[in-house]
Amino acid sequence: AFSMSDLMRLVPAVVMVLAGALITSAVPSSQSPSRILVAHRGASSYAPEHTLAAYRLAIEQGADYVEQDLAVTKDGVLVCSHDLTLERTTDVETVFPDRFVLDAKGQRRWFIADFTLEEIKRLDAGSWFGAAFAGERVLTWDEAVAAIAGRAGMYPELKGPEVYRARNIDMVAVFAAAVARGKLDASTPIRGRAPLVIQSFDEQTVRDLAKALPNVPRTMLIGSEAMAERWLSSEARLRELATFATDIGPAKQIVSGNPSVVTWAHAAGLTVTPYTFRSADTGAFADVTAEMRHFFDVLRVDALFTDNPDKFPRK
Ligand code: G3P
Ligand code: CA
Repeated sequence: AFSMSDLMRLVPAVVMVLAGALITSAVPSSQSPSRILVAHRGASSYAPEHTLAAYRLAIEQGADYVEQDLAVTKDGVLVCSHDLTLERTTDVETVFPDRFVLDAKGQRRWFIADFTLEEIKRLDAGSWFGAAFAGERVLTWDEAVAAIAGRAGMYPELKGPEVYRARNIDMVAVFAAAVARGKLDASTPIRGRAPLVIQSFDEQTVRDLAKALPNVPRTMLIGSEAMAERWLSSEARLRELATFATDIGPAKQIVSGNPSVVTWAHAAGLTVTPYTFRSADTGAFADVTAEMRHFFDVLRVDALFTDNPDKFPRK
């Protein structure tokens, strides 16, 4: 018979099994226990995207997850930037006026992969958005972890992995190494959910992530008609997708154009996290809160990306 001390020895094992079951997905089942708010690039309607100001505000506004788009510097460091280049969101043109390359259209581009972290840290990543944000810096992934982990979940996207592949950089390997050595404890749930969810538009990258980080939930982003046709055209296709992804992240128009996608995804064991909901783009809806509410109540999505965390309809 079990003694009390036998029972006490079993407790940690039982807790670990339960925790493992809880973090296999951002959402434990197709019947979402609550609506999940992913702050898109931070609270990016109110502060410059991917800065400390945007990430902190997202947490203050109640984000369950804060999104990072990731790029790789010349010296192999992951930094938070939506664009592969620096000119839209920093003063790189002023600080490094000669360090551009011309793209196929003859446009001057300052690629992150051509700059070291030390160089990128000299740039102002806030003034483009507003004078109040002057002096904000481009953040590394490790700095984002330090600011967010434990307060909200992390929701990184590997941006342009095919571009880095052409430069002989394996973004999945770089990211997996960062997770392995980093301060983020990917095994401890936050508010009952996975503390880390990874996303990519690149199918090969999501497949590689399934092998490199099998216990971390993975969102397959779907933005183009071709990708929607490939993966969202039937329940059978979604069942195939579920062999390497745990969630789909379609553009919101794809979901509203074919609401069956949500039913098929749930039947396949996938959750659904459409993008992007912002006050500046609500279509026929009165406001962004009404739009988000419609996606939860009528279309039955599990989570969504929004630039306006403060407008999220909790109920
Ligand atoms: O990752 C979801 C959404 O952010 C995809 O669009 O271009 O803002 O990265 P984008
Ligand atoms: Ca993104």
